[in-house]
Amino acid sequence: MRLPHNHSHLRGVIHVPGDKSISHRAIMFGSIAQGKTTIRHFLRGQDCLSTIDCFRKLGVHIEEDGQQITILGKGWEGLEEPKDILYTGNSGTTTRLIMGILAGRPFHSVLMGDESIGRRPMDRVVLPLREMGASISGRENGKFTPISINGGSLRSIHYKMPVASAQVKSALLFAGLQAEGTTVIEEMAPTRDHTEKMIKEFGGECIREGMTISVKGSQSFEGRDIYVPGDISSAAFFLAAGAIIPGSEIILKNVGLNPTRSGIIDVLKEMGADLELSDLSSNGEETGTIVIRYSQLKGIEIGGSLIPRLIDEIPIIALMATQAEGETVIKDAEELKVKETNRIDTVVGELKKLGADIESRKDGMVIRGKTALKGGKVSSFGDHRIGMMLAIAALLSKDPVDLDNPECISVSYPNFFDDLQKLI
Ligand code: S3P
Repeated sequence: MRLPHNHSHLRGVIHVPGDKSISHRAIMFGSIAQGKTTIRHFLRGQDCLSTIDCFRKLGVHIEEDGQQITILGKGWEGLEEPKDILYTGNSGTTTRLIMGILAGRPFHSVLMGDESIGRRPMDRVVLPLREMGASISGRENGKFTPISINGGSLRSIHYKMPVASAQVKSALLFAGLQAEGTTVIEEMAPTRDHTEKMIKEFGGECIREGMTISVKGSQSFEGRDIYVPGDISSAAFFLAAGAIIPGSEIILKNVGLNPTRSGIIDVLKEMGADLELSDLSSNGEETGTIVIRYSQLKGIEIGGSLIPRLIDEIPIIALMATQAEGETVIKDAEELKVKETNRIDTVVGELKKLGADIESRKDGMVIRGKTALKGGKVSSFGDHRIGMMLAIAALLSKDPVDLDNPECISVSYPNFFDDLQKLI
């Protein structure tokens, strides 16, 4: 696809699509709850549609009416042994979180995703779930999909997570909610807490004390009306565009501002971006409006506990750094290697092709700015966030940029190019 290129003065208003992490969890909680759940402003991205598909195969009645979803839940016991493989597509969140649910269900199920899912580590969830008593097997002794689960009674554990991962934490919370006794999970750095929030929203109990989260077993839930706020990880592409494209002013409405997700705001501020937050509301999940205007950014160092708060934004932060004066160092971000692609390799490789001064490090990357970007042929490698980052990069190039495999962007932002057109 020939990307829009050589554009300045991006101006307009974007209504950010629903949050991917929250949309997945709303389907999951609605499916294990008793009674009716409605979800408004649901993200109709491929990943969340995979989650709907899996729960339908597990016997849950789910109706779709555009961005409004209705689920008629029958509780944990309402889940039935699937007659078919549960296909999770490109979605790590679907694959890992559903394992925690199925580990406690007394039937057999098989999980399988696309080629990217087949390369992503599943043992980070399989090993602790086995400790809880689930019988799970998979390729290379449970490291990779296809994964086969024979669920049943679970015992609680006290688990110190070796990685900062909300997917691992959430899978273990789902298992802990079905186990005997209290499950305690220790995080090494705070990760997104949507699962904890939703446990409470659906009438359950979950306690955080410092870095530990505990849930009692045998909890049941009741259906709810859920509104999904806009996804800050999708907003991030237009926040970056506004900050680095001369003459721009972009207004982003209804952005989710959960503090465990808002690291990108901290980074923009530290880089010297011209940004204003307004309409702040904190009814469950925090939201607000962000106005971003072009300004000259400066390079900064990003690492430590900030990384889990912006892990999905690192590709677009790397692009911003190419337009900042000085050096930007991104460290402590090894987790990038096990995302939809190895994002250290794909970000560095593709931005280099466009003329960036960028080098990979074992736990991140170093970017020196400011560099003019040029045209060329690039690829998303099937990774939605790499595709969107390259589409923003192309706006800065005088010469054409051709993107291979733009279709994958529908995983998290099906209307991305329509929204981009509104600003040009
Ligand atoms: C997610 C957690 C993060 C993130 C992913 C969504 C979630 O993954 O990168 O896009 O919804 O829990 P990890 O838990 O593997 O860090």
